[in-house]
Amino acid sequence: MSAWIALRGTPLRGEIAVPGDKSISHRAIMLGAIAEGVTRVDGFLEGEDTRATAAIFARLGVRIEAPSAGTRLVHGVGLHGLRAPSEPLDCGNAGTAMRLLAGLLAGQRFDSILVGDESLSQRPMRRVIDPLATMGAVIDSNGGCAPLRIRGGCGLHGIDCTLPVASAQLKSALLLAGLYADGETVVREPHPTRDYTERMLATFGADIEFSPGIARLHGGNALHAVDVAVPADFSSAAFFIVVATLVPGSELVLRKVGMNPRRTGLLHVLRAMGADIVEENASEQGGEPVADLRVRHALLHGIEVPVEHVPDMIDEFPALFVAAACAEGATVVRGAAELRVKESDRIATMAVGLRALGARVDETPDGATIHGGSLHGGEIDSHGDHRIAMAFAAAAQRAQGEVRIGDVANVSTSFPGFDALARSVGFGLRPA
Ligand code: S3P
Repeated sequence: MSAWIALRGTPLRGEIAVPGDKSISHRAIMLGAIAEGVTRVDGFLEGEDTRATAAIFARLGVRIEAPSAGTRLVHGVGLHGLRAPSEPLDCGNAGTAMRLLAGLLAGQRFDSILVGDESLSQRPMRRVIDPLATMGAVIDSNGGCAPLRIRGGCGLHGIDCTLPVASAQLKSALLLAGLYADGETVVREPHPTRDYTERMLATFGADIEFSPGIARLHGGNALHAVDVAVPADFSSAAFFIVVATLVPGSELVLRKVGMNPRRTGLLHVLRAMGADIVEENASEQGGEPVADLRVRHALLHGIEVPVEHVPDMIDEFPALFVAAACAEGATVVRGAAELRVKESDRIATMAVGLRALGARVDETPDGATIHGGSLHGGEIDSHGDHRIAMAFAAAAQRAQGEVRIGDVANVSTSFPGFDALARSVGFGLRPA
C-alpha cells in the first residue's frame, strides 16, 4: 500500500495551475455522450474517478477520443443511442459517477448494473434510489448500497420533490432521469448546492429553468454538443490555499480556479479567520466564473463556521480542519453530518489524525470543535480517502517532525500528480 512521508518544506512560492474540476469533468462526459454531435472537453481531469466515467460510456457504445492529456472528444449518440452493456459498469471510487448514472441509466430501455470499490460500496444510495422510484424507476441494491441493479424500460414520469439532504449528486440524478421522463421534473433543495448540471444542461440546449435552490426540467428534448472548457478544481486548490496561508513567507498564485459560488465557501471562512487571499484576473470560462488566487501567509484565529456556508465547502472540511488546528483559539463546525458519508467518515478520520499529531479535537455528531495549537509528527491512516491524505500532507507543513501518511493511492482519483506539484512549490513530501 503506498504511503508518503510529509514534513516541513520551504515557504510556498510560484504560480501553479491545479488540474481540472472533477464535478464538471464527469458531467461533460455524461452530457456529451447523450448529446447529438461531438463535444470537445478541454481541461478534463485525468483522474481515476473521471476516467471511470469515460470508460463506462465507452462500454455503453460511445466513442471517446483522447487526442492529448486533458482533452476528450465525445461522439454523442443522442438521448436514446446508448447500447446495453455486456458487463457491470465499474464506478471505482466515484460517488458522483454512481449517483448521477443511477438517474441517467434509469431512463434507458436496457438493464444495467453499477458497481464500485470497497469504499463506494459502503456509501448510501437510498437517497437516489427512493426519489428515482417515485419517478417510476426500479433499482435493486444491496441493503441501500452498491451494486445497483437498474431495470430498463420502466417509463419514467416527472415529479415535484424536495430533497431530504442538500446534495448536488442527488439533484443531478433526478434531473438526468428527468431528461427521459414524461412531463416536468422539479427539484427543490433544502439549501442550494453546486449547479453544474443545471448550467451544463442549459448550454446543451435542454429545456431547463433554475435559480438557487430550485430546478425545473422538461424531458424529451434532444441535447446538442458544445465545447466545454473545464476550470481548475477549487477543491484541489484548497490544500495549497491553506498551506500558503499557514507557512510564514509564502506567496503563491493559483491560476484560473473555478469560482462557482456554490464551491467557494472555504474562501469566506478562511477570510473570516484572517487569511489574505486576493482574487485577480476574474473572467468566465465555459460559463463558469474563474479567477487567479494570490495567497499570502497570514495568522489565523478560530471562528464558528456559519452553517449556511457548509454546503458551499462540503469537500473542503479536511483542509479547513488543518487550518483550524494551526489557528489561534477554537474553530467550531456544526451542521456538517454529511461529512460522515463521504469517501471516509471525514469528521472521525480528521479528528483521529489531528489528535495523532497532538491537536485537541472534540467530535460531535454533526461537526467538531478544533482547538488550535502546535502539531508534532506522527502516523496517519487516510482510510483510502484522497482528501484526507492531501489534508495531512498539508498539516505536515506546519508540524515539528515527520508525518507518515498511509494508503495514499486514491489521491489519483481527484488529483493525479499532487505530490510532484506540491513539492515544486515548497512542500516537504516524498514517497515512504
Ligand atoms: C459532487 C457533490 C458533492 C461532493 C462531491 C461531488 C458533485 O457530493 O461532495 O465531491 O459532483 O455533484 P454530495 O452531493 O453527496 O453532497
